[in-house]
Amino acid sequence: TRSRRAVDAFMTLEQFIIDQQGRFPHSSGAFSRLLRDISVAAKIVNRDIRRAGLVDIFGTTGQVNVHGEVQQKLDAMAHEEFVRALRRGGECCLIGSEEHAEAIPLRPNGEGDGRYIVLLDPLDGSSNVDVNVSVGTIFSIYRLPDDCDTPTLEAALQPGTQQVAAGYVVYGSSTMLVYTTGDGVNGFTLDPSIGEFILSHPNICIPKTGTIYSINEGNFNSFEEGLRRFIRWAQEEDPETGRPFLTRYIGSFVSDFHRNLLKGGIYMYPATKKNPEGKLRLMYEANPMAFIVEQAGGRASDGHRRILEIVPQKLHQRTPLFIGSEALVSMVEAFLQGR
Ligand code: AHG
Ligand code: MN
Ligand code: MN
Ligand code: MN
Repeated sequence: TRSRRAVDAFMTLEQFIIDQQGRFPHSSGAFSRLLRDISVAAKIVNRDIRRAGLVDIFGTTGQVNVHGEVQQKLDAMAHEEFVRALRRGGECCLIGSEEHAEAIPLRPNGEGDGRYIVLLDPLDGSSNVDVNVSVGTIFSIYRLPDDCDTPTLEAALQPGTQQVAAGYVVYGSSTMLVYTTGDGVNGFTLDPSIGEFILSHPNICIPKTGTIYSINEGNFNSFEEGLRRFIRWAQEEDPETGRPFLTRYIGSFVSDFHRNLLKGGIYMYPATKKNPEGKLRLMYEANPMAFIVEQAGGRASDGHRRILEIVPQKLHQRTPLFIGSEALVSMVEAFLQGR
């Protein structure tokens, strides 16, 4: 089978990146080093998450982040690890992180020549981390525009179509890193005994349709009518169309997304009373996953338009998000538009 061949090939992430380098437009090796820096931070965060119960890292920092969310200690720890790895690596000039109100310039005095911008959700699903449920990290990579020398926030606010790469880490039953540079989607599983990410899921393609939907149905009463109609439709008995569908909602976007990517399905975080713009953030949750899902043959919409074409205004702006199998995203859009 596909993954059997990959394991036989025993290709590490580093070897894969070097192989891909030839096809990567900026093959100066800088991108390879950037991805390596990210994978090092992922291994450190993985180590800390896996022993969270043994060291004083559960609970909150007592701080509230820019979203008014109580910041988990692991949110802050993961943020620090990625910032440290990217600063040390020297390929990144600016970071935008969920856990930091402002964009973070990594070469304020102009030293170094890193020209990559990284948008980051250091720990996704952090409400789950103290109860041992799978969490993740999401990253999105842009290049500093050629005509731009000082890395500013404006340079980071590029539409998702401009991403040069996007990926996530899922700290689940195994730890996987999945990413794209616009040439398909590949998944790597961490072999802790050697500390290497090994190619385990080459060329991931999302099934064109599916029977899994992921949504917080606790917000049902504040969903718009078209969405409520879709959910009621999904729950009707109709074996021909695989209904009733399965509902699977972990509360960690990365884990819900990863399962749907492999099995087919749709993840939805619509506008709700509490989050009228939706809850997920465009720059470091919706855009990177939209790039990945499109590269895997799926779709990502805000209900009316392609996520990747949204022109960002603010670093932490939110968007409604419907993402997954092409047929399911199109179906929900039809229900939303009353068709
Ligand atoms: P984060 O932990 O990075 O703030 O993201 C949490 C997000 C997403 O991971 C998850 O699907 C969603 O919040 C859950 O929100 P609800 O608890 O409102 O369903
Ligand atoms: Mn958060
Ligand atoms: Mn998140
Ligand atoms: Mn987060």
